Amino acid sequence: MPASALRQPATDLATIQALARDDMAAVDALIRRRLASDVVLINQVAEYIVGAGGKRLRPMLLLLAAGALGHRGPDAHQLAAVVEFIHTATLLHDDVVDESDLRRGRKTANAVWGNAASVLVGDFLYSRSFQLMVELDRMPVMRILADTTNAIAEGEVLQLLHVRNPDTDEAAYLRVIERKTAVLFAAATRLGALLAGADAATCNALHAYGLNLGYAFQIADDVLDYASDADILGKNLGDDLAEGKATLPLIHAIAHSDTSTRERLRAAIEHGNTDAMPEVMSAIHATGGLDYSRQRAGEYAEAAERALDGLEDNEYVAALRGLAHYAVNRDH
Ligand code: IPE
Ligand code: IPE
Ligand code: MG
Ligand code: MG
Repeated sequence: MPASALRQPATDLATIQALARDDMAAVDALIRRRLASDVVLINQVAEYIVGAGGKRLRPMLLLLAAGALGHRGPDAHQLAAVVEFIHTATLLHDDVVDESDLRRGRKTANAVWGNAASVLVGDFLYSRSFQLMVELDRMPVMRILADTTNAIAEGEVLQLLHVRNPDTDEAAYLRVIERKTAVLFAAATRLGALLAGADAATCNALHAYGLNLGYAFQIADDVLDYASDADILGKNLGDDLAEGKATLPLIHAIAHSDTSTRERLRAAIEHGNTDAMPEVMSAIHATGGLDYSRQRAGEYAEAAERALDGLEDNEYVAALRGLAHYAVNRDH
């Protein structure tokens, strides 16, 4: 009998959230407590973006990975807060770089307080995350998080190098999203395994799960930038084209359009031209760019699930499988 026949079914989001509810409440309380600074503007900006919510997916992944291997408790809460702080810092910086003005259903911090405040409060959150992580006094944890934050910074700069570059192909796109997004997912799940005292093979399996999930999640995000609704998404659509960022739906359209359409799509990226959005959309539809991207996201989600095959099944493992489905089927 194949291993899959023995599995519990993948869990739906409401059940996953219920499973993690108490731990997530502890993480949220910790985040709020540790945001504090006696510098008023820091409190305002940090409370503003943290208070807007967000899915809290990365801390949840860390808690579920630890739970899958039998570990729960304050160290997991602390590291879950660390990964959410790092994520939030990258969002503050990302919205400056992308010149975005809507995030989590609110005006972005840069739209309200300006770029300087967003960058500096992002730095505050980064460095606050370092303070939280050293409190655990565990070198392997610090090594993972130091390597991860460094890779994220590389990913963002790598992406910058591709802005307005119509030659960005799928391989280059994947290199960017691995670093800017997937490595933090991988760190979250690896840290969960590490806290649980898992052996190297199990830590690697949880890392592979998180990494593949991160790819799936970012590809799905890039589809939503063309195919969602700003009210549901809480972010404006079309930001990627406006910024001259070639993501998978458009990369696919460029590769599969006729010569004259291709030239116009390339020009749209070179100029970050949102006036070209109707033509870009119709080329993406004509070439099946959204379906292709959803299929690629699905392949990464399946790879994430497969990485869990060696684990003993329990409700946390089923929840991790459920999140792999959620990452590619979500609407925001
Ligand atoms: C947004 O991440 C940045 C990406 C990697 C696409 P999320 O979609 O997890 O953002 P929040 O935390 O839920 O707002
Ligand atoms: C994710 O890329 C950036 C980070 C990892 C911070 P995006 O630029 O697509 O993220 P959104 O769409 O603004 O959330
Ligand atoms: Mg962005
Ligand atoms: Mg996006």
